[in-house]
Amino acid sequence: MSDPIRRILVTSALPYANGPIHIGHLVEYIQTDIWVRFQKLRGHECYYLCADDAHGTPIMLRAEQDGIAPEQLIERVWREHQADFADFLIEFDNYHSTHSPENRHYAELIYRRLDEAGHISRRIITQAFDPEKQMFLPDRFIKGECPRCGAPDQYGDSCEICGATYAPTDLKNPRSVISGATPITKESLHFFFKLADFEAMLKDWIGSGSIQAQMANKLDEWFTAGLQEWDISRDAPYWGFEIPDAPGKYFYVWLDAPIGYMASFQNYCDRVGLRFDDFWSPDSTAEVHHFIGKDIAYFHILFWPAELAGAGFRKPTAVHCHGFLTVDGQKMSKSRGTFIKARTYLDHLPPEYLRYYFASKLSDGIDDLDLNFEDFTQRVNSDLVGKLVNIASRCAGFITRRFAGRLAERLAEPALYAEFVAAGDSIARAYEGREFSRAMREIMALADRANQYIDERKPWALAKQPDSESEVQAVCGMGLNLFRVLMIYLKPVLPGLAVQVEQFLQIPPLRWNALSAPLLDHDIAEFKPLMQRVDMTRIAAMVEASREQDPAAGGEAPPPGPLAAEPIAPTISLEDFAKVDLRVARIVRAEAVAGADKLLRLELDLGGETRQVFAGIKAAYAAEDLPGRLTVMVANLAPRKMRFGVSEGMVLAAGDAGGIYLLSPDDGAEPGMRVK
Ligand code: 2FM
Ligand code: ZN
Repeated sequence: MSDPIRRILVTSALPYANGPIHIGHLVEYIQTDIWVRFQKLRGHECYYLCADDAHGTPIMLRAEQDGIAPEQLIERVWREHQADFADFLIEFDNYHSTHSPENRHYAELIYRRLDEAGHISRRIITQAFDPEKQMFLPDRFIKGECPRCGAPDQYGDSCEICGATYAPTDLKNPRSVISGATPITKESLHFFFKLADFEAMLKDWIGSGSIQAQMANKLDEWFTAGLQEWDISRDAPYWGFEIPDAPGKYFYVWLDAPIGYMASFQNYCDRVGLRFDDFWSPDSTAEVHHFIGKDIAYFHILFWPAELAGAGFRKPTAVHCHGFLTVDGQKMSKSRGTFIKARTYLDHLPPEYLRYYFASKLSDGIDDLDLNFEDFTQRVNSDLVGKLVNIASRCAGFITRRFAGRLAERLAEPALYAEFVAAGDSIARAYEGREFSRAMREIMALADRANQYIDERKPWALAKQPDSESEVQAVCGMGLNLFRVLMIYLKPVLPGLAVQVEQFLQIPPLRWNALSAPLLDHDIAEFKPLMQRVDMTRIAAMVEASREQDPAAGGEAPPPGPLAAEPIAPTISLEDFAKVDLRVARIVRAEAVAGADKLLRLELDLGGETRQVFAGIKAAYAAEDLPGRLTVMVANLAPRKMRFGVSEGMVLAAGDAGGIYLLSPDDGAEPGMRVK
């Protein structure tokens, strides 16, 4: 390997410190860990940093509910998270917390520098306030009756039953989720980051190839919509860092979360004697790579580079987004038993099966990734057990029994070995570009080739022939050398298996630059089985252990049904109905909304006019399935200003607790047609 040594700092998103790691999280940590292990295997200086995201209202309330101090909660979760990661062989160089002195230091420093440079504004805003608890209420902490369908117990931003979206002030009979009190509105001074100051810089940065093409398109949409000022403050009581010189005002959790990447690195530098500035100063030649889910792109490709630039730090080299995990084609679900915690998985299956499965499905794009249990079983059994490990088990016995564990002095097929080594360039390019599925395909094609070689040379038949001793040794030595090359290629994905193989072959840790030196005239240890087949009963047991009663479906509630759930509304006149202008609309674009669990942002073509509508249908529809589809919308509904932008109408959907069903006209209807 002739590449110069790169200095690379890598992060994964910081998990919240109020819940367990689950297999949805693991897509990202496994993806990042594989990339980091690959860089290290190639000999680069690479550091993998993470931390718990330990601030914010949900953590404050969760601790209160549990009757403990937030410090106790985040300490316990910090330990649990690290145990889960370690057992999945995710190897951080440092795992810190955003509730740390280093993070307070950098949050204050960045804020002060932004303020001094004029990038912070202050103004009074009005918000919902809980008069009993004496705190301002985020939208998710207000519930009431849906202003459209009247369904009880709906959140302050959207209705789970009919999909309507609205402002918390629109809810009927609103109440605070925390105290049950009726919220009032109250004014308070807030601090804002002036994102628009950085528009030119951000356009430049995006042009430098730092984000994926799909994300660059999204960003263009955000630029077109206009960069809004970002509210970075919250009022006491709040669990976080108090803003300097602003008693009772705290940094919003999303302000200090990404700064946690720096804090974790500072903590690491202090521990091992590295220089922080080598990586974070504006003229640094080191690389900084962030791996994140596409739902938090807004924070990482707009706010974060802008904050860094405004505060005199370098910007990230790249932000790599990935899609979400579905299980058997559907969102993870507690009632179906597919919301699988990391620990529950580990109680039933070895971590490397999932690492390999995810690797075999991951690409450099942002498409969602499906865990299909049949496919999972088949890939593990066929690729890892049937192809890979089989090579070693077919060859090792002969070497141990007939040659006292000694490998031959020469390679039987140097050309074949050279072919395996040459494949490394393409495999390395695939790893570097995060095209792990391509890397796995190429490696498994080599494994097929190795098995084919053994099939052709038949050491078991040779062993029965007189005078074929040295040939048996040569063929089996060749097989084991091909296996060793494959294990170098797979080490980023299967680090535990790699250690077992290193022990079996009695060699120092496998490295990429050892590819071209085969093991010759060398003693190996006795072979022990390296991997077991997956048994479907273990998967079934894992799903069963993950199954939880879905509170919405169980208990005393009546079975969901349109009439049981919702009585018919009082009669209206024809004139009243005529006021509602319903139109056929074509969905031209659909996307998730950063920070909103239930919403999709839709762009609707009304036959010449385009409307933006926020619809609470994310639970039932994947954004990528919607473009092109016709639906029906209320075209003359007054525009509503929501947290994420203005909603210019409403799409029609039927729904109850069992699901949401978007209405569609029959074939032949055209966008813009009036529905009467
Ligand atoms: O979405 C989340 O789970 C956040 N805790 C991720 C934070 S990433 C970074 F900004 F800290
Ligand atoms: Zn509703």
